Amino acid sequence: MRKPIIAGNWKMNKTPDEAAQLAKDLIPLVKDAKCDVVICTPAVDFAAVKPVIEGTNIKLGAQNVHFAEKGAYTGELSADMLKAAGCEYVIIGHSERRQYFGETDKTVNLRTVAAVKAGLKAIVCVGELKDEREGGYTNAIVSYQTKMALTNLTAEDLDNVVIAYEPVWAIGTGLTATDEQANETIGVIRKAIAEQFGEEAAAKIRIQYGGSMNGGNVKGLMSQPEIDGGLIGGASLTAEKFAQVVNF
Ligand code: 13P
Repeated sequence: MRKPIIAGNWKMNKTPDEAAQLAKDLIPLVKDAKCDVVICTPAVDFAAVKPVIEGTNIKLGAQNVHFAEKGAYTGELSADMLKAAGCEYVIIGHSERRQYFGETDKTVNLRTVAAVKAGLKAIVCVGELKDEREGGYTNAIVSYQTKMALTNLTAEDLDNVVIAYEPVWAIGTGLTATDEQANETIGVIRKAIAEQFGEEAAAKIRIQYGGSMNGGNVKGLMSQPEIDGGLIGGASLTAEKFAQVVNF
């Protein structure tokens, strides 16, 4: 069976001191979690957070990675750098990066391949815009995004990939997909993976929901058969709120 995974995406929040404090506060609250627990902090916080969570069940993640090994890419970080800084996970293709930073399905794919080949676990984000859902294109969009993101990976590589289904209209808006909507679309993503990599790989891969997920709606979402976890924005910024989600 698939082990659930709850990851916090801190986005552009928390200085190193604040990050260390939040991580410290989190440790006792999530120590008995039955799911994998990940916090994806800003890169400037890695050095402060890593020693705090050492030896605990909390894993460190980044929010982006470049696809080149090194070179003239001002402002970017390579997979090897993230690993050396203690990251095990990295979020790739978040809708905010697609929306504000020119991220495309092609660059999401390049980053995913680079991350996985370097030994990181990729959390690959897909999801439709409000107009796309209203137009009836959700299934086509998420299938296409998923298949593009995973191009040039093998079925074995998928052991180190998590998909996060984040409907863009549900991010930071307080609107969540209904449990059934999220479950149905995640089922569509799993079917796309089955077409690309076979039924076994599709049955194994973990697919999270993200978008205004919190302590109040986590139980309903997590009781759906296709949903294997959550990618949490706002509710990951306070220890108690994130712990409520983790301890669903
Ligand atoms: P919110 O939980 O704040 O809606 O953010 C979701 C998200 O984008 C996680 O990556």
